[in-house]
Amino acid sequence: MEVININESQVIKKNLADKKIKINTHLIKVRKALPKDVYAIYNIACSVGSKSKDSTQGFLMDNYVSRPNKYKKFFSKKINELDYFYIAESNIAVGFLMAYTKEQWLKENPDWIQDIYWAPDFDINRTNDFIVIDKTAILAGQTGKGIGSKLYKKLIDDIKRENINNIFAETIISPTPNFASLSFRKKQRYTLAGVRYEGYDNKTYTDLIYYKSV
Ligand SMILES: CC(C)(COP(=O)(O)OP(=O)(O)OC[C@H]1O[C@@H](n2cnc3c(N)ncnc32)[C@H](O)[C@@H]1OP(=O)(O)O)[C@@H](O)C(=O)NCCC(=O)NCCS
Repeated sequence: MEVININESQVIKKNLADKKIKINTHLIKVRKALPKDVYAIYNIACSVGSKSKDSTQGFLMDNYVSRPNKYKKFFSKKINELDYFYIAESNIAVGFLMAYTKEQWLKENPDWIQDIYWAPDFDINRTNDFIVIDKTAILAGQTGKGIGSKLYKKLIDDIKRENINNIFAETIISPTPNFASLSFRKKQRYTLAGVRYEGYDNKTYTDLIYYKSV
């Protein structure tokens, strides 16, 4: 069993308690994530990805707090591998977004397109080239301040330059619905493209597949 390093868990708790941290949203910059950002990214993931899942505030599926080394290695690898991995920061790091190109995504999820029950009116040609936004997380207590929108805008600006015009993103609706994510998809004008069932940790998860053309 992995034991959480005391300093690390203290920092996580401090961040959770620091809901009063004043973030000047005008100073928030979004940039590509670098290897040195692993700790900050892991810390943000822990703040919204622990054992308990909060439907209202939103959550990440994994329990990042449970296995620090595994997840830090995971983020390190993804920072090096992925073309579209961003961090948002002002005085502290406050959010990240991790997205895959079609090739990168299908390498890890080869049956993804076939596994989805696509909506009858969804044009499947839109899967010819796409980006999948796999994870977006804003530090607990800092949501609803426009940080997620800034991360999405940066990604959209970058993929348009590469002539990629299709974005997919998944939202969990069962066993615990992610209401913050559902609301965010609506606000960002995503449309429902399909649904998929995913086995994870001995449970079946239901994911809504959202689509946006940019
Ligand atoms: C979902 C998430 C990425 C949105 O980022 P954000 O910085 O909070 O979003 P923005 O401030 O840019 O946009 C605000 C919109 O997001 C949605 N939203 C954000 N937090 C919300 C909450 N706690 N409850 C309901 N809706 C929420 C709403 O639609 C909101 O619009 P409104 O203010 O008009 O109601 C963020 O809440 C988050 O990281 N949650 C925890 C992790 C998570 O659920 N990740 C799933 C990724 S989609």
